[in-house]
Amino acid sequence: MAVEIRHEAGGKVLEVMLTGTLAAHDYSRLVPVVGRLVRRHGRIRLLVTMNDFHGWTAGALWEDTRFAARHFGDIDRIAFVGRTKWQRGMATFCRPFTRATVRYFGGTASKAARTWLEAGADTPRRQRGRAVQPERRRSVPLPVFQTRDQTRAFYNKISGVYDLLADRSEAPVRRAGLELLKARAGEKVLEIGFGTGHSLVRLADAVGPHGQVLGLDLSDKMLAVATANVAKAGVGDRVRLRRGDAAHLPYADGALDAAFMSFTLELFDTPEIPAVLSECRRVLRPGGRIVVVGMSKEGGRDPLIAVFEWAHRHFPNFLDCRPIFVQEALEAGGFSISKSLTKRMWIPVEIVLGIKP
Ligand SMILES: C[S@@+](CC[C@H](N)C(=O)[O-])C[C@H]1O[C@@H](n2cnc3c(N)ncnc32)[C@H](O)[C@@H]1O
Repeated sequence: MAVEIRHEAGGKVLEVMLTGTLAAHDYSRLVPVVGRLVRRHGRIRLLVTMNDFHGWTAGALWEDTRFAARHFGDIDRIAFVGRTKWQRGMATFCRPFTRATVRYFGGTASKAARTWLEAGADTPRRQRGRAVQPERRRSVPLPVFQTRDQTRAFYNKISGVYDLLADRSEAPVRRAGLELLKARAGEKVLEIGFGTGHSLVRLADAVGPHGQVLGLDLSDKMLAVATANVAKAGVGDRVRLRRGDAAHLPYADGALDAAFMSFTLELFDTPEIPAVLSECRRVLRPGGRIVVVGMSKEGGRDPLIAVFEWAHRHFPNFLDCRPIFVQEALEAGGFSISKSLTKRMWIPVEIVLGIKP
């Protein structure tokens, strides 16, 4: 048996002891116990003790995601007790619990772990015999697990097949974003993360021979593909592309009329997003426009978002992006929101127009 379950602190702390390999049926024992305690206490805390633990079967990984989708806001602290070499496995277990504070304790520190879990338990109490509904806070975007070098290598590798993989689903929402931006003749417009260059060509048509389109992308192979596509479309005279990182835009303050980004902001880790948007704000003139098209987490408990996030968590080297809150990010980045729409690709996509005040 891989899972042994004990209650402590009147049920507000659940101790889960893991040994051997965790299988799907182990979750079927854990899930009802957690559900019952959450109905009774609101949020609870987990003490996970690992002993000779060997990891998860594939079925258990799937159950882990379903368990997390249902309970990720119900567990506010997780303490792990076990040997340091199991910390990687522990990190897998707790990745979905983005709201919980997680701490690792060495193999002999279970007393310290219990003290931490029992301190200041802030779960609401049962009132007049009625189960208290746990507070439903808004979920947060998952972290990004890839480094810049890994991202660049990934897009270099798929540059030749990107359109085959993504264009059919992404093209309609990308076009809706360009319509919202309404690039005008004579304007200077930047696209960040231009990929194979579809939007560059449309933007170049819109700004005309007296305008200019600038583009920045991390991947040198994408740069090569986009350069060829722009030349083929006959608009190379007004397009200037370079390789670089959107976290540091190589353009002067206030130099641009508009900026466009599709399916790129969600590649940045949450703490980096404000820095990228602050760079966008810096290079736009006052009154300048930005449109961001991005996979959205606004769908709440949409099962397709949960599936996408599961895949991002378990196969980050194939699915490096994840849904984010696009409008919220632009507001926090100091843009005033002029228009915002949500369209469905196969998961929700936000298309947001922000103005630099
Ligand atoms: C998912 S693709 C989207 C491409 C294009 N915008 C589209 O809608 O088809 C993301 C693009 O962003 C680029 N990218 C990723 N990280 C970047 C960064 N830090 N700075 C600039 N570009 C980046 C990738 O190389 C890739 O071309």
